[in-house]
Amino acid sequence: MPARRPRRNDALSAALGYFRDLGVRELHLAAPPAVAGPTSARPGARPETRDAVPSTRPASAKGPAVPALPDLDTLRATVAACQLCGLCRTRTQTVFADGTGRSRIMFVGEAPGADEDATGVPFVGRAGQLLTKMIGAMGLDRADVYIANVLKCRPPGNRNPEPAEIAACRPYLETQIEVVKPAVLVAMGKFAAQFLLETEEPITRLRGKWGMRRGIAVMPTFHPSFLLRQPERKKEAWEDLQQVLRKLGLPVPGRKESGS
Ligand code: URA
Repeated sequence: MPARRPRRNDALSAALGYFRDLGVRELHLAAPPAVAGPTSARPGARPETRDAVPSTRPASAKGPAVPALPDLDTLRATVAACQLCGLCRTRTQTVFADGTGRSRIMFVGEAPGADEDATGVPFVGRAGQLLTKMIGAMGLDRADVYIANVLKCRPPGNRNPEPAEIAACRPYLETQIEVVKPAVLVAMGKFAAQFLLETEEPITRLRGKWGMRRGIAVMPTFHPSFLLRQPERKKEAWEDLQQVLRKLGLPVPGRKESGS
């Protein structure tokens, strides 16, 4: 008999169980926003549907229970109502991610800035415009990749994320990675690289060298905000992105990202 497609309530209780197993004790849920339909296949995209993966266990299954993953819509709604740290009091809205979740490349940044806090979309300000150009230089479109941040809320005045905020937000990015299952994670800047590689090494030592996070290749590179301040370092960032293209067997365009 074909497996029954899980209903939203099943997905929600699976999500709640998942967060309970991760140690999250309090979640404030709101209705999920409407989502766009699937996009056509593109170079960075995965062919199969990936944004609804609640797992069910047959009654006969043996061994320890594996918590079911929430789907991205449920997770987005959970994040939208999150009050796990003080940033919920100063944010305009949460900034969950940009992308369908069917991408082989996932870019991870630090935290939303003022433009992202105003729009709810990551990387739309000046740094975001540079990131969009960098993705374009890779021969890709923003729609081909998945973009998320370590923090889902803007730290006031764009200050650095605090360790307690990163710890509170950790399960959200971890779950996004588990659901999207990208082939490559691009860690932009110190906070993303240190989070993904679980290290305290400075970004200057990490960048350009492949790392691994739970079976997923991680390429640390400079944050676009840093590249805006130090445009002479764009050459190194472009070398890092070329490595990503090569790893995925994608064509490497024979030009440099100028950003100007
Ligand atoms: N910087 C980030 O790290 N993330 C954003 O979404 C915007 C700027």
